[in-house]
Amino acid sequence: GIKLTVIGGSGLYTPLLFDAIANYQEEIDFDEICLNGRTASKLEKVARLSQSVIDRSEYDFKVTYTTDRQKALQGAEMVLSQIRVGGMKARAYDEEFPLKYDIIGEETVGPGGFANALRTVPVMLELAREMEEYCPEALLINLTNPASIVQQAIEQETTVNVISLCDLPVGVLNKIAKMLDVDRAEIRYEYFGLNHLGWYQQLAVKGENRTSEVIKKVDSLGLGIDSDWIENLEIIPLPYLKYYYHHAKEVEQAKEKDILRAEELIETSNEIAKALEESPETIPELIYQRGAIWYSDVIVPLIATMVNDKNEEFILNIANNGLIAGIDDEVIVEVATIVNGSGIRALEVGDIPLQVKSLLQQEANYRNLATQAAISQDKDDILRALVANPQVPSYEVAYQIWKEEFSK
Ligand code: G6P
Repeated sequence: GIKLTVIGGSGLYTPLLFDAIANYQEEIDFDEICLNGRTASKLEKVARLSQSVIDRSEYDFKVTYTTDRQKALQGAEMVLSQIRVGGMKARAYDEEFPLKYDIIGEETVGPGGFANALRTVPVMLELAREMEEYCPEALLINLTNPASIVQQAIEQETTVNVISLCDLPVGVLNKIAKMLDVDRAEIRYEYFGLNHLGWYQQLAVKGENRTSEVIKKVDSLGLGIDSDWIENLEIIPLPYLKYYYHHAKEVEQAKEKDILRAEELIETSNEIAKALEESPETIPELIYQRGAIWYSDVIVPLIATMVNDKNEEFILNIANNGLIAGIDDEVIVEVATIVNGSGIRALEVGDIPLQVKSLLQQEANYRNLATQAAISQDKDDILRALVANPQVPSYEVAYQIWKEEFSK
């Protein structure tokens, strides 16, 4: 059986991992899932609820927990990282400070995402070094943002086998399937880009190309991107592309909001904690409302595919190594892959449409520079990354951000 260790396991949404696992007893033989976190009282609550989800299923394994990370890593075949360095407070900062410079505030995009990288990469490198020591063969499944920068740093600096993933591509595909009234598995597609910066093309069902139909009805997908522009693009962007195509408008809207997404999530977490006080063995409705399809639609099926040596398709983040022309080999790209027991093989990526190529290359180059800066924490590296970031308009603004936000 498998030992899976969850770093950041005391997150209140962790029970949804077990909810997703509950139906897989035929496919995945778990010995133990170990939750690691820093606060014993939180861990204990989340572990109890998670164990109760498993006890109500046909499964029979132990949900363990410990605040000792090295102990948690020992004997693990798979490690899932879902830590958020600095917690929701840090995310609130990432969402807020860029607005002062008329730049979007976000935990993965722009200077906010970069602040997140500077803070998170050193901690993730420490985790990876512990993995080298305590479970060198284990696969690190990474959810920690900014996922692609974290992954590139780990690949560059350690020998840990790491794969990052995201629910956005599959989330958009789910919506497309609903629109076309077909099963997601029936849709053939091409997908390329970077994490939070990807596009779909060549959507086909039973050999019939349905891309233009999807584009005609694209408003119903709620991507937040101008539909005339998508029609012109002829390919379908992930919703995060709104921070590039509609940057000024997004900044205006964000400034008008009186609550940050992080603050919303803090409030919800408090309510979830209260609900858990009352019934510690029931997943509160609020948890389902945010959802966590990264578990149910990506991570658990991915593990099942690996352990059963099935050949299934997943959109994952891997080092470019020539997949997309004009992007450096070491940069982590997000592409369709075939996964089985022996590993992950990227499907070929064809020519990138010219209308998105420069944006993709610019962001890829920024992420490469951001990775170097997050590793070195050096002022010159930080400035290079900031100036290369698509949302940062000039050296003056980059310098001001460095001085105000990163020089302390
Ligand atoms: C997607 C994004 C993540 C984000 C998550 C949840 O998975 O890739 O970066 O954290 O959605 O969004 P939320 O605002 O609920 O945290």
